[in-house]
Amino acid sequence: MHQSMHAMGCVRCHGAERQGGQRMYPFFWIQTPPLTAEALFGEHDDGHGDHGSYSSATLQRAIREGIDPSGNALDSTMPRWAMEEQDLSDLVDYLGGKLSAEH
Ligand code: HEC
Repeated sequence: MHQSMHAMGCVRCHGAERQGGQRMYPFFWIQTPPLTAEALFGEHDDGHGDHGSYSSATLQRAIREGIDPSGNALDSTMPRWAMEEQDLSDLVDYLGGKLSAEH
């Protein structure tokens, strides 16, 4: 299952450590946000807008429909992913679940 992040290519843009910060060629002014559990579910100010924290439901929506928790559309450089329910919920568990493993 942990393989899935790699297989789906999130790392290509969000980084192997999900640290974000990659610039989107040729849209060099766009940087990917971090996808760590702290950044997504915790209190944060990641400098790219004032959306609130994600929940599992809003994170699924962001990945599938590109909409952040405040209802704003993410930039179109973030792909919209057509995924099976199961894959999507595994992915969301993975993105949030690692926090509890680390802390
Ligand atoms: C082609 C590059 C690219 C790929 C591949 C990609 N992303 Fe993104 N993603 C982005 C960019 C750019 C943004 C920022 C969009 C914005 O700021 O509006 C983003 C934003 C996000 C956000 C919103 C984060 C926040 O703080 O609001 C989530 C969640 C996300 N991506 C998850 C994923 C997942 C999960 C995958 C793999 C299934 C993935 N992304 C693959 C480019 C990418």
